[in-house]
Amino acid sequence: LGPVFGFSVTFDVNSGSTVLVTGRISLIFDEKNYSIKTMNIGDKAITYRAYENVIYVSNPVDAGYEIMNIYVPEEYYQGKTIGGYTAETAPIFLPNKVGGYMPAKPDSPGFKQDGSPNASLVALSKGYIVASPGARGRTLKDEKGLNTGKAPACIVDLKAAVRYLRLNDKIMPGSAERIISNGTSAGGAISALLGATGNNADYEPYLEEIGAAKVRDDIFAASCYCPITNLDNSDTAYEWQFNGVNEFNFAGRKGTLTEEQIKVSNQLKAMFPAYVNSLGLKKADGTPLTLDSNGNGTFKEYVKSFLIASAQKALDKGVDLSSIDALTIKDGKVVDIDFEKYIKYITRMKPTPAFDALDLSSWENSLFGTATVDSQHFTKFSRENSTKAGTLADAKTIKMMNPMYYIGTKGTTTAKYWRIRHGAMDRDTSFAIPVILATKLQNEGYDVDFEMPWGVGHGGDYDLEELFKWIEDTVK
Ligand code: DHB
Repeated sequence: LGPVFGFSVTFDVNSGSTVLVTGRISLIFDEKNYSIKTMNIGDKAITYRAYENVIYVSNPVDAGYEIMNIYVPEEYYQGKTIGGYTAETAPIFLPNKVGGYMPAKPDSPGFKQDGSPNASLVALSKGYIVASPGARGRTLKDEKGLNTGKAPACIVDLKAAVRYLRLNDKIMPGSAERIISNGTSAGGAISALLGATGNNADYEPYLEEIGAAKVRDDIFAASCYCPITNLDNSDTAYEWQFNGVNEFNFAGRKGTLTEEQIKVSNQLKAMFPAYVNSLGLKKADGTPLTLDSNGNGTFKEYVKSFLIASAQKALDKGVDLSSIDALTIKDGKVVDIDFEKYIKYITRMKPTPAFDALDLSSWENSLFGTATVDSQHFTKFSRENSTKAGTLADAKTIKMMNPMYYIGTKGTTTAKYWRIRHGAMDRDTSFAIPVILATKLQNEGYDVDFEMPWGVGHGGDYDLEELFKWIEDTVK
């Protein structure tokens, strides 16, 4: 089969905790290499074939991470249908477990901390094929000590996984034309990138290098929980929202912004309107979404409208909101939210700049490192104000990590369907970030389901029944 796909297949793989690789690895799915597993959701037994640690590139940089777990409901091998799907038509659910832009292993069906079934197990129970890719991340090193998982490695790997599924579409159960990506936080950001950047040539040299299949890498739909995305505009967005709140509490590091940091916060806040205004975003009714130099305007009202809708939904479900001072509720209707009051109520998480730290200490600084440099800046502002004489990441790399530059552009196949969730208590990034992403997608003609669920903090997969209902609606 090798020559058909333009490479020779000489391989030697032991897929266990240590992986030995010599030569190029076959990209052809081995149907026979599975084990049978069963898990229960309540009384219902879910039996499935487990293909685990399948290397999805022919020339892996790190064969401990460029691997995928693939799970197929056993009933499909008995010619049965599940929820109307057959082995050929079943959509492929593609959850990644990336967090903090760290290296990530593939997911497996199982249970969450609260004992409920995880997304992969729910997906199997509903007849989906589950394909969970691992990916390289920012702390990974090779045996020589060189960094191997800096940007754009994580998105390159996920694209390669999609390509593997498409290359093998005929011989694998499920439809590679119905891939639904899912991820949370950094994983939500990579899910957004996967959805936004399909087939774009920028990633091609990187895909070539790792021996990814030479087929399309666009996907059908992207589910993104609290995507920590649009990183090069996240500092200004954060200060637009949190300026004036000087106490922060980040992963146990509590503190108060210094005079110098307050000055930086003011500077960053002042830069945000120009960015929003440059996007030319519009509401569904055509109203331009803009901000004045103080950060007020239709864009801010629009952000508030999602919080108001969210509070209304909670109120309608019987949640007691009477203690939330920021809300104005009249006759069972949430009529307004005092944005500044609400932001004080949820509190600031990160000091400033929240993402491109002046001392190069953030996870994102580490994401934008190189093979030999651990951390870099990725905004002009922080590069110019660096306290560590940090260098600026390459412009192309910064671009390749931001879906905003690709949505609906020429030479790109952006996913048609999007579901974006960002909790109304989530302070890991500004509310403006998911709102901008959702609105840009909508304005470019994509189908977007965006909400900011009330009382929800930084996390994902908390509404799996609704997630899979949404997937059903998109595929049928
Ligand atoms: C994640 C959270 C962050 O606050 C961040 O800056 C990057 C990633 C995460 O949970 O993945």
